[in-house]
Amino acid sequence: MLDKIIRVVRDAGELIRCAHDVEQDITEKTNPADVVTKYDVAVQKFLRRELLRLLPEADFLGEEGAQSQLTQPWCFIVDPIDGTANFVRGMGHSNISVALAKNGQTEYAVVYNPYRDELFSARRGEGAWLNAKPIHVTDHDAAHALLICGSTAYDRELTDRHFDMMKALYNRCADYRRFGAAALDFCYLACGRAEVFFECRLRPWDIAAGTLILTEAGGQVTQMDGSAIDVTQNCSIFASNGICHGLLDVIREM
Ligand code: IPD
Ligand code: CA
Ligand code: CA
Repeated sequence: MLDKIIRVVRDAGELIRCAHDVEQDITEKTNPADVVTKYDVAVQKFLRRELLRLLPEADFLGEEGAQSQLTQPWCFIVDPIDGTANFVRGMGHSNISVALAKNGQTEYAVVYNPYRDELFSARRGEGAWLNAKPIHVTDHDAAHALLICGSTAYDRELTDRHFDMMKALYNRCADYRRFGAAALDFCYLACGRAEVFFECRLRPWDIAAGTLILTEAGGQVTQMDGSAIDVTQNCSIFASNGICHGLLDVIREM
């Protein structure tokens, strides 16, 4: 099943790589930072058709369009373009994120950045890979950690909380980055490019695939209150290489 999903996602990557005149087709959703293009919709349509061919009895939860009730044990959870703001600006840092979950737990995960041809994948209990090579988190402690942060562009009421946490964590880490594609943020921890990632109120399609890739690579993911994540719900996320997860105590009470 993982290989089949990978084939579908790589094909969908072509739609993103070949996109043109993107800036002429931007529609605002909830606010000026929250945008969608015809490519988000087209990639989701393609993924829906091809993934449901692999497992017709599964539900399908994707970011674009109306959400339907989840009633089946298996569910594809899909972000057709994660990092749409990067996509419309030609940053080359966006991805397709596909998880196949069973009873609310991700079993298969694929995150693909078509611009760099970097395909991250994981199978629960079997490991995580970048372009078929096994990946693992680093063993850096907090003082040597690179911190990746999200933002609050879609939820401005969380801004003060976000920057308070940001400051507290940055003061204990070596440096920080903001890349703008949450699924890849998890994968960057998984393959040892950074050690800590946090973001308030991520959606199921932002977390469902990346979190399995990170935990299969030896990392740790919880909600900000320390509880287990639920990939079918919005979650405020604290992710790490494991060693740095103690930093969660710094923000837990904030
Ligand atoms: C967004 C990106 C971004 C994160 C937002 C997400 P989208 O996804 O992952 O990095 O900060 O919270 O919603 O809207 O580009 O698919
Ligand atoms: Ca997203
Ligand atoms: Ca998206």
